[in-house]
Amino acid sequence: MDSKNTFSTLLNRMLQGMMFHSENCDYFAFLGFDGYEKLHKVQFLEESMCYRMTKSWFVKYSDLLVPDGGLIIQEAVLPDSWYNLSRKSVDSDNKGELVKTALENWNEWESGTIDIVNQCYLQLMDMGRIDLISIVLNIADDRTNELKFINDLYLEAKSVNFNSSDLMQMQMDICLKCKKNRKKLEVALREYWND
Ligand SMILES: [Fe+2]
Repeated sequence: MDSKNTFSTLLNRMLQGMMFHSENCDYFAFLGFDGYEKLHKVQFLEESMCYRMTKSWFVKYSDLLVPDGGLIIQEAVLPDSWYNLSRKSVDSDNKGELVKTALENWNEWESGTIDIVNQCYLQLMDMGRIDLISIVLNIADDRTNELKFINDLYLEAKSVNFNSSDLMQMQMDICLKCKKNRKKLEVALREYWND
């Protein structure tokens, strides 16, 4: 194991994370939950920039190219059966349960990512590569904040018993949260261009 392998594993997970958020955009667009869709759009962009910055940084700093970690195998977020449905044909009473499942899956995904980031950190420590650790810590920090955010969203949805009408009413407030997240994204975009 060398630092290139470690970063390759990390980058692979980051790419899968982008696919995860992209599929969630479709999931919530299909169900008509605009706020949740926007949250995933923001995450998709933020994590895309983070992936690119991490990769460029490693190449320039270490002087080595790093592969993305081989095949991307990511469990589909969208059920296959949905590809044969229209948006209007989804049972409204079931939508709350679908939101619950998606929020639980999001929590599970980011927890899994944090486990991988932790493993990468420990590998770099074992190699004595303290110089490479700061960027991994930044990723850990971002994912931990994301996990906290998901837990807040889950509690908010649970407070209305995942009732689909109530969840629909909450979408406007969630869109306002996205505006705050978009501001963070604009700051990240400046860093991205200046990198
Ligand atoms: Fe994420």
